[in-house]
Amino acid sequence: MALDLKLDGKKAVVTGGSEGIGKGIAKALAEQGCDVAICARRKEPLEATAAEIARATNRKIIAIPADLTSAKDAENFIKKSHEALGRIDILVNNAGSAPGGVIEFLSEEAWMQALQLKFMGYVRCLKHALPIMVAQGGGRVVNLIGNDGVKDSYWEIAPGAANAAGQNLTKSLAGQYGKHNISMCAVNPGPVRTERWAGLVKAMARDMKISEAKADTLAPKSIPLGRIAEVEEVANLVCYLASPLAHFVNGTQIEIDGGQSKVLMDQARDDR
Ligand SMILES: NC(=O)c1ccc[n+]([C@@H]2O[C@H](COP(=O)([O-])OP(=O)(O)OC[C@H]3O[C@@H](n4cnc5c(N)ncnc54)[C@H](OP(=O)(O)O)[C@@H]3O)[C@@H](O)[C@H]2O)c1
Repeated sequence: MALDLKLDGKKAVVTGGSEGIGKGIAKALAEQGCDVAICARRKEPLEATAAEIARATNRKIIAIPADLTSAKDAENFIKKSHEALGRIDILVNNAGSAPGGVIEFLSEEAWMQALQLKFMGYVRCLKHALPIMVAQGGGRVVNLIGNDGVKDSYWEIAPGAANAAGQNLTKSLAGQYGKHNISMCAVNPGPVRTERWAGLVKAMARDMKISEAKADTLAPKSIPLGRIAEVEEVANLVCYLASPLAHFVNGTQIEIDGGQSKVLMDQARDDR
C-alpha cells in the first residue's frame, strides 16, 4: 500500500513556482491533494504553469505575480494567497537562486542580489506567513536552501553566504515557533537539473577559464553517485517534509546532494 502523506486538502504556498524546482514542488504537492498558490516575477509563464498543474491534478492553483526582492510584493503575495486559499498550512520558500562567481569578479551588486532574494525573500514571506499560522493553530515551513551553506565551495561563495544565513534563520525560528505548533526545516540540494543548469555551466566555464564541456563534468565528478539530482527527487523530499508525518522533523536540515564533496569539484577543475 502506498504511503499516505496526509496532504489531501492542505493549503500550500510555494515561492518561485513557475519553473525549476518550485514548479516540481507545486506539482508534487497538488498531486498529493493540496491547493497551491505560486508566485514568480513573469506573469505569463506563471499563469501557464498554474493552468498546467491545475489541469493535470484537478486542484486549485493560484498564480500571483510577485518579485520577492520587494517587501511590498512579498506581503501582497502572502496576503492574497491566504485570501484565496482560506488558510496556509504549508509554506515552501524556494525562489532564491543567487549569482555564482569567484571573489575577484563578484560585484557588490551580485553580493547584494544574493542576499536580497535568497535570504531576505525568505525573511519577508516568513514575516507575513507566520502570524497566519499562529492564528490558525499551526503550520509547516520548508525552506529550500542549498548545500553551499554547509560545505566550503569555490564558485558558489555568494549563494553559500546567503544559504548559511537562511539555515541559521530556519533553526532560530524553529526554536521560537514550536510553541505555536509550527515546525520548520531546511532542504539543501546540491546541483539539480533545472532550466538554469545550462546557463550555470556556461558561467562556470567563463569564470574558471575552462571549456563548457569540461565545466559540465565538474558537478557529476564531485558526487559519489556520479550524476546531479532531478527536480522530482527534490520535490518528493519536500512533499514528505511538508506532510504531517514529518511534523516532528524540526529545526534541522537535510542534504539531497548524492554525498557531493565540493573539494572534488575543485580537483576536477584542475585535472586538465
Ligand atoms: N538548481 C540547482 O541546482 C539548485 C542547487 C541548490 C539549491 N537550489 C535552490 O533551490 C531553489 C530553486 O532553484 P531553481 O534552480 O529552481 O531556480 P530559482 O531561480 O530559484 O527558481 C526559479 C523560479 O523562481 C522565480 N523567481 C526568480 N526570481 C524571483 C523573484 N525575485 N521573485 C519571485 N520569484 C522569482 C522564477 O520565475 P521568474 O523568473 O519569472 O521570477 C521561477 O519561477 C533556490 O532557492 C536555489 O537556490 C537550486
